[in-house]
Amino acid sequence: MSPHSPAPAAYHTLDTDGIRAFLAGVPALAARLGGPAAHWRIREVSDGNLNNVFLIDGPQCGVCFKQSLPHVRVDPAWKMPLDRTFYEAAYLREIRPCVGALTTDILHFDPDLYVLVVESLDRHVVLRRGLMAGGDWPDAARAVGEFVAHGTFRTSLLAAPFEEITHRLDVFSGNRTLTRITVDLILTDPYRDHPRNHWISPELDSIAAEIRTDPRVRRRVGAMQARFLTCRQALLHGDLHTGSIMVSDDDTRVIDGEFACPGPIGFDCGLFIGNLLLHLFACRDSGGQDRAVRNIVQFWTSFHDTFLELWRTSARQDGNGDAYATTLFRNDPSGLRQAQADFMQDVTTDTIAFAAMEVIRRLVGYAHVPDFDTIPDLAARAGRQGAALALARDLLADPGLVTSIADLASLARDRTG
Ligand SMILES: Nc1ncnc2c1ncn2[C@@H]1O[C@H](COP(=O)(O)OP(=O)(O)OP(=O)(O)O)[C@@H](O)[C@H]1O
Ligand SMILES: [Mg+2]
Repeated sequence: MSPHSPAPAAYHTLDTDGIRAFLAGVPALAARLGGPAAHWRIREVSDGNLNNVFLIDGPQCGVCFKQSLPHVRVDPAWKMPLDRTFYEAAYLREIRPCVGALTTDILHFDPDLYVLVVESLDRHVVLRRGLMAGGDWPDAARAVGEFVAHGTFRTSLLAAPFEEITHRLDVFSGNRTLTRITVDLILTDPYRDHPRNHWISPELDSIAAEIRTDPRVRRRVGAMQARFLTCRQALLHGDLHTGSIMVSDDDTRVIDGEFACPGPIGFDCGLFIGNLLLHLFACRDSGGQDRAVRNIVQFWTSFHDTFLELWRTSARQDGNGDAYATTLFRNDPSGLRQAQADFMQDVTTDTIAFAAMEVIRRLVGYAHVPDFDTIPDLAARAGRQGAALALARDLLADPGLVTSIADLASLARDRTG
């Protein structure tokens, strides 16, 4: 499977009439929605930077319709190939058997129109917005940890022979457009003068400059760039922030896998923890801060324990992964335990660095998070953002500052003041 290139002549952006006709023309989707097409309710819910997203409600069921545009949705002058829904569809096909109902079911993909249709989560809210409104979903972070553990373990060389894993990962090496965005917006731009970087408060000028000029930060960022691009540990979601999670009272789903690419497992963990750290610094009440810390620790514990359990089970069942091969450790269980601890420590180290880089890029890079908008006083807002940036800077400058996620969470809590 590979995307069309360049954009097929059949492509055009669908409006609501076009969406209705499109869905009516796919028998399985029309049957799922039920009733006559004229009765379907169609509403736009696009709130991200990149794509058009609509929810369609029929008498029986709803679906979610997502279409790539030939440009960035919020910046039509920024042209972009269409293939991102192709990669999101490919990611869902790859990952859904690994994670089950922790993501959405894929219902249809149209390779000419770059339309992806998935199940509608209309009783869910986006986790970021829910957290900003003061809500609490006590099981969500645990569920996301489980998602990352299953998704990464099962697409890693711990789980299957290299022929199978590299074949599966190679598809996603083609996701160059969005990987370029990650490389530029997360890994590069915040550490150089670039017109895409911005922030409102002049109080942040000095810490932004310090981050850019600290040689220790530069060395670490360089190493993390290399790590992201060379360490093909597993299939990553690639954009795992709190806006990519939808929650209801009893259900958590990860959406929006269009940035999927091979990479280091700590990248997904770091993005999620980075966004929880941003939320922590934006929280002014101690209850919200406590919950943010709890979410960080719960996410990590769930990821860590689930990943190791999958590994132990695989080893017990004579799994045929080519890395840390079962045959190597058959008579050396304590050696395997130590190797596992070393592996998880490497993931922890990556996670902390990528979390710091996510904090930085979301405050002084191109795409900011809205969490701090809940602080109306601009000076107070800048104070919190500056504290988050200083923590991120310190984490990158001194790899020994914290070496566990629990310590990271409690240091961050201390620094919220
Ligand atoms: N399956 C779904 N069911 C219900 N609503 C959804 C679903 N998928 C997405 N949404 C809604 O649509 C919004 C945009 O979706 P999504 O984040 O996938 O778009 P995007 O263009 O890729 O965004 P970004 O630029 O942040 O990557 C989500 O924030 C959510 O409110
Ligand atoms: Mg997206």
